[in-house]
Amino acid sequence: MAEVIANFSAGPSALPRSVRQAMAEELLPQADASPSIVEVSHRGPMFARVAEELADRLANTMGVADSHHVLLLQGGANLQFAQLPLNLAQAAPAGFIVTGHWGVKALAEAERVAQTHVIASTEASGFTTLPGELKCHAPVAYAHVTGNETVHGVQFDHPPTLNDASGQAVPVVADLSSEFLSRPYPYASLAGFYAGTQKNLGVAGLTVVGLDKDWWARVARGRGHRLAKYLDYQAWIEAGSMFNTPSTVAWYAALLMLRWIEAQGGLAALELRNRQKAQRLYACIDDSDLFYNPVDPVARSQMNVVFALADPHLHDGFLAQAEDAGLLGLKGHRAVGGLRASLYNAIEIEAVEALIAFMQEFERRHG
Ligand SMILES: Cc1ncc(COP(=O)(O)O)c(C=O)c1O
Repeated sequence: MAEVIANFSAGPSALPRSVRQAMAEELLPQADASPSIVEVSHRGPMFARVAEELADRLANTMGVADSHHVLLLQGGANLQFAQLPLNLAQAAPAGFIVTGHWGVKALAEAERVAQTHVIASTEASGFTTLPGELKCHAPVAYAHVTGNETVHGVQFDHPPTLNDASGQAVPVVADLSSEFLSRPYPYASLAGFYAGTQKNLGVAGLTVVGLDKDWWARVARGRGHRLAKYLDYQAWIEAGSMFNTPSTVAWYAALLMLRWIEAQGGLAALELRNRQKAQRLYACIDDSDLFYNPVDPVARSQMNVVFALADPHLHDGFLAQAEDAGLLGLKGHRAVGGLRASLYNAIEIEAVEALIAFMQEFERRHG
């Protein structure tokens, strides 16, 4: 295989070179045999400095330092699919706006532990569109939405807002796993949100959960049920996210990523670059007779560009030749097939240009 030019993996995914370098240096044995950050107590002073800087940077980067509890958990988004309704949807059903694979999974898991209500679903379009104006006719504890559907390549530009039958705003909770910290985003406007860090903020093993403090206080006051402590958000709030041993390596990687985000010029600078990458790749697909993207242009994801070949017989050859050319991770999710390029924060514009050049050359030879 040729030298790797780019890794478009959907997650876990590429790290910026400098972050990978810094992690490697931290873990290398030192001449004085001093321990690395992942070899010391999570309650000792060395790790406390990491935890404190991580918490500050995270809350400030999201703009929720005053408004939200920010919890650092494990278990990925998949645990949140159950933990959310266990904590928040026992008095009223959990509402769902379903726009793709991960929304379907979140709903199925919630159904196991709570009452649910589907507010809207775009399944009839094959999850290639976003819902129109939203209204919730049944009383719900919150409306769950997937900000960016990683598998179907569909993304909300802004988090949806909706009212219930009495005209009250419904609290919105968003799965932001695959767009977390890729652009300025109104985190503070959400009742809740969650995201694993293995796409835009480092490595697997850490899940960031945000809960509006006032909303949580109201819900927690009215809760009549007891949960296993590990599953109870209140236990994590009180323990400052150190209820048990955290995934220290993922915390450290997230801290390095937050420093890197600042050095790039912050979320606004990342958004500019991320939008440019997506625009160029969509333009290449739209100009082509061989490649196509099935998603409604207004619903297209800026993070996960899904595409396919008009002649499906060319699919395996495309992937094999792309790998030979050093372009990795382009296979679509097993649930939908096809191709997908994930353009998370660490992907450089040059990597997207290399992919475009490869696609154009492939079409010239096979189109
Ligand atoms: C939008 C979305 N939600 C949920 C998940 C599942 O995340 P995890 O594996 O961290 O549970 C993913 C993973 O790709 C995702 O992209």
